[in-house]
Amino acid sequence: MTTFPTNQDLDPAELRQAFGIFPSGVVAVAAEVDGAYVGLAASSFTSVSLDPPLVSFSVANTSKTWPDLRRSAHLGVTVLADHHGAVARQLAGPVDRRFAGIDVTVTSDGAVTLDEGLATFDTTIYRELEAGDHTIVLLELHAVRHVDHSLPLVFHRSQFGLQRLA
Ligand SMILES: Cc1cc2nc3c(=O)[nH]c(=O)nc-3n(C[C@H](O)[C@H](O)[C@H](O)COP(=O)(O)O)c2cc1C
Repeated sequence: MTTFPTNQDLDPAELRQAFGIFPSGVVAVAAEVDGAYVGLAASSFTSVSLDPPLVSFSVANTSKTWPDLRRSAHLGVTVLADHHGAVARQLAGPVDRRFAGIDVTVTSDGAVTLDEGLATFDTTIYRELEAGDHTIVLLELHAVRHVDHSLPLVFHRSQFGLQRLA
């Protein structure tokens, strides 16, 4: 009989690798705060509820951006397209260059979305749930502004695109 190792045997590196086997899309969560664009790339996005319309993503408690981002009245969420690999890296990189060269739309409530996204959502924070070293952020949707039918960016095994191992 095969037994699972107990909790204390879980190695974070191994865990990260195992989590990475599950493929995900990538979104940009962004807003204009105090006159500047703030945002980050997140692969933890998922749809949650139709009534009320909710989505979620998880943000690391070490995030320097989240304390600013959460102050915005509205947050924009953009589903990235398959050609957005570099954009996703940029949105996770140095803060002062995150939006360099990226065309965005800003609502009067401060939600920032990427013009080339596949789908964009205008959202507000519905609830924040402590979840270990991350916070699960539930977002309520107020508008879906754009839907494109191109292929989405996929994040799998820490890389973009589905990764078949030899
Ligand atoms: C493809 C990709 C997916 C990411 N997904 C998440 C995520 O789901 N949650 C998260 O907190 N950070 C995620 N990050 C990291 C953030 O984009 C960002 O780099 C991190 O929050 C550190 O920056 P900050 O301190 O400005 O928040 C991801 C980065 C990349 C490139």
